[in-house]
Amino acid sequence: MKVLKASNYDDMSRKVANIISAQVILKPDARLGLATGTTPIGAYKQLINWYEKGDIDFSEVSTYNLDEYRGLGKDDPQSYRYFMDHTFFDHINIDKARTHVPDGTNPDAAAACAAYDKLVKSAGYTDLQLLGIGRNGHIGFNEPSDVFSKGTHCVDLTPSTIEANARLFDKAEDVPRQAYTMGVQTIMHAEMILVAASGADKAEAVRNMIEGPVTPECPASILQLHTNCVVVADDKALSQCTSMASV
Ligand code: PGA
Repeated sequence: MKVLKASNYDDMSRKVANIISAQVILKPDARLGLATGTTPIGAYKQLINWYEKGDIDFSEVSTYNLDEYRGLGKDDPQSYRYFMDHTFFDHINIDKARTHVPDGTNPDAAAACAAYDKLVKSAGYTDLQLLGIGRNGHIGFNEPSDVFSKGTHCVDLTPSTIEANARLFDKAEDVPRQAYTMGVQTIMHAEMILVAASGADKAEAVRNMIEGPVTPECPASILQLHTNCVVVADDKALSQCTSMASV
């Protein structure tokens, strides 16, 4: 695990965007695993800016998002498909047919998850998987548990995740209680993993991810075992880490 220190959110966003941009320049038909949430918004804005300047071409890129709320479709402003379209895809020259998000509208959870898993696997998994980290150490919607998950599956969101995501909804009751998410094993198949973290509310999770034992109680801790994992975190997110050397 390589840890890159950023001075603040904007610096973190530029570093993350630089790494994604390098991936697309080196491999124009790259398969990018993408994430939603507040953390990657600045990186997506930076990538849009470089696209507008003619520095990046997304025409051959394919994307695979980590997760989607169960029951929400592309027209629902709270869905992750809507987020990706409006925050990123609608502003770059990506072929929408190559952008993938689990199908939250399929009420058959087993079928929706199996189809998504098959899709990601048959594509050969991702070249680069971007991840945020939850305050409880979750990656995607893989919540703390007593086992690491494998393929795409339906999860019950924990109270802490519902509370963290409530800020994006009118009322906490509106936050869906379930989601379809890539499993930890699927995420670990990525050639490279890029974790972005910003802010003091992530400091404990970031410490557990980098310095804690590898345990499903902190799903992100498994990333210590990935052979090509880069963490870009700002000062506040790294404030509880005791060692800042690459580990
Ligand atoms: P955030 O979410 O970027 O909105 O903090 C990250 C996550 O929960 O994975």
